[in-house]
Amino acid sequence: MRILTGLQPSGKLHVGNYFGAMEPAVRLQDEGEAFYFIADYHAMTSSQNPAALRENVRELAIDFLACGLDPARAVFFRQSAVPEVNELAWLLSTVCPMGLLAKCHSYKDKTAQGIAANHALFAYPVLMAADILLYDSNQVPVGKDQKQHLEVTRDLAGKFNETYGDGTVVIPDPIIREDTALVIGLDGQKMSKSYHNTLPIFGEEKPMRKLIMKITTDSTPVEAPKPTANSTILALHKLFASASDHAAMVADHELGGVGYGDLKKRLADQYWEFFAPMRALREEILTDPGYVDQVLAAGALRARDEAGKVLARIRRAVGLC
Ligand code: ADP
Ligand code: TRP
Repeated sequence: MRILTGLQPSGKLHVGNYFGAMEPAVRLQDEGEAFYFIADYHAMTSSQNPAALRENVRELAIDFLACGLDPARAVFFRQSAVPEVNELAWLLSTVCPMGLLAKCHSYKDKTAQGIAANHALFAYPVLMAADILLYDSNQVPVGKDQKQHLEVTRDLAGKFNETYGDGTVVIPDPIIREDTALVIGLDGQKMSKSYHNTLPIFGEEKPMRKLIMKITTDSTPVEAPKPTANSTILALHKLFASASDHAAMVADHELGGVGYGDLKKRLADQYWEFFAPMRALREEILTDPGYVDQVLAAGALRARDEAGKVLARIRRAVGLC
């Protein structure tokens, strides 16, 4: 069973990314042969800034390792370290109808946000299909926003096999993380970089606590019971606290007598404690400046080896050799 997923390097990881993507990926590395990569080519479809790209790739690699990605179990690499993916993207594009790409929501959403409608942004799902098919992936865990891209991948894989014979590529199954709770941001909307309401996973203690103290609350007085429905404090607290600590927090909302300031402070304590092991591992990783490069280089070798075999099979099937 080969499990593959990619994460875009696009800035500081937040608590939504952790529960929505990293934590499930780390859990899955025990269930099959995991291939995890940093989608740097994809990141270039919406931002072209070399210094930021380098920095974001490195940060994401460090953070993912700190969150528990185990390079001894998972093959961890950057997408661009296996340039063969571009060749497969080209081959897939020869069976890809324009209409299939034109209906993709993510292209429409991104251009509506003002991102330039360049060819790479349009062809994004073809490269993503190549990422998946290049490694004979069986399962692809992704967030709900990527569901349509997985449909495009399956569609292209089917067309490719129809054209060149069954078994030319392996048809993958998406694992859509429907069950992952949508993590709420500091203002009560979905936590997202685009909404500027994120709580980073890693950061200095003081500014992180300050962010938590800024969570939007109502004007219920200290003595009065606090509403528990739609409470941002409780929604976040539940992610970080044990069941009993969380029950106590709910009780303190219901009873009244504890002000929002104190409730937020308790949330901040739980948040800080929850990420303590990851923070410690991150510090350890940072003491060896060569470590991340070594991990990514070793991962690239393993990924390239696999990609080479799959691409050789595909090249034969399509008549390139
Ligand atoms: P952002 O919305 O901040 O730009 P991304 O789109 O880069 O985040 O998301 C990367 C991964 O993190 C995706 O798999 C997505 O499903 C997950 N994710 C992002 N925000 C949340 C959230 N608020 N709750 C749950 N999962 C999230
Ligand atoms: N498009 C994905 C995202 O933005 C990242 C990605 C690129 C990916 N290639 C992939 C995910 C292949 C899974 C499989 O989240």
